Amino acid sequence: MMFLFLFLVTYVSEAYNCCPKCGSIDVPYPLSTDNNCGDPRYKVYCNHGILEFLSARGFYYKILSINRRAYKLIISPPPIQKGTCYSSDFSSEGLKLDENLPFNISTHNTVMLFNCTDRLLYSPLNCSSTSFCRQFEDNVEEGIGCKNTLCCHYLKDSAMTSHMIRIRAIGCTAYTSVVNMKPGSSFDSWTYGIELQWVPSN
Ligand SMILES: *[C@@H]1O[C@H](CO)[C@@H](O)[C@H](O)[C@H]1NC(C)=O
Ligand SMILES: *[C@@H]1O[C@H](CO)[C@@H](O)[C@H](O)[C@H]1NC(C)=O
Ligand SMILES: *[C@@H]1O[C@H](CO)[C@@H](O)[C@H](O)[C@H]1NC(C)=O
Repeated sequence: MMFLFLFLVTYVSEAYNCCPKCGSIDVPYPLSTDNNCGDPRYKVYCNHGILEFLSARGFYYKILSINRRAYKLIISPPPIQKGTCYSSDFSSEGLKLDENLPFNISTHNTVMLFNCTDRLLYSPLNCSSTSFCRQFEDNVEEGIGCKNTLCCHYLKDSAMTSHMIRIRAIGCTAYTSVVNMKPGSSFDSWTYGIELQWVPSN
């Protein structure tokens, strides 16, 4: 009896703290779609049944999946506007996270940059003819507008800022990202996304 009681108390209090599903996606604690549930520091947005993450520059990114036990979530890279080589968050210079919030960009993202200016050639990025970005612009419909531009890729590791993926006219104008890219893997096996992690609550 006692065990059942404790179980129910735990269950009910957890259910109370947890936000309701957004569309078909569970919103695990501490993520919060509303001030009455979750932990409000971990704010995400349920807009018309689509769970979204808001950048520091006011751009919404769709949340594709959440791994509560690993404190990680994956957001969708912004679409590249059809027939052009501009990411849809170009006007906000790409993805920028609010440094005061408990989220950062994980070290599992391989970022591809497109339509870069020559100055990128002197950076430590891989802009060679074998860069992954070539596969993207040659084979993936979304990348076609970027074909024959200078493109590069890099693994966003811990040596870099973990709060930003930057694009701009004097650098590159579009980007995409693949989570956990395996060496030598081909474009048809890639998982597009930008993996974020959060500081565990409590
Ligand atoms: C590439 O970027 C330049 C600015 O650096 C811009 O003028 C040009 O339109 C872009 N190309 C495409 C295909 O979007
Ligand atoms: C660039 O990336 C490709 C694909 O991973 C790799 O085969 C190549 O060795 C890299 N080149 C440089 C200069 O790092
Ligand atoms: C990003 O967040 C993780 C866990 O929340 C933390 O361990 C890591 O140090 C952070 N990275 C940076 C560069 O702030």
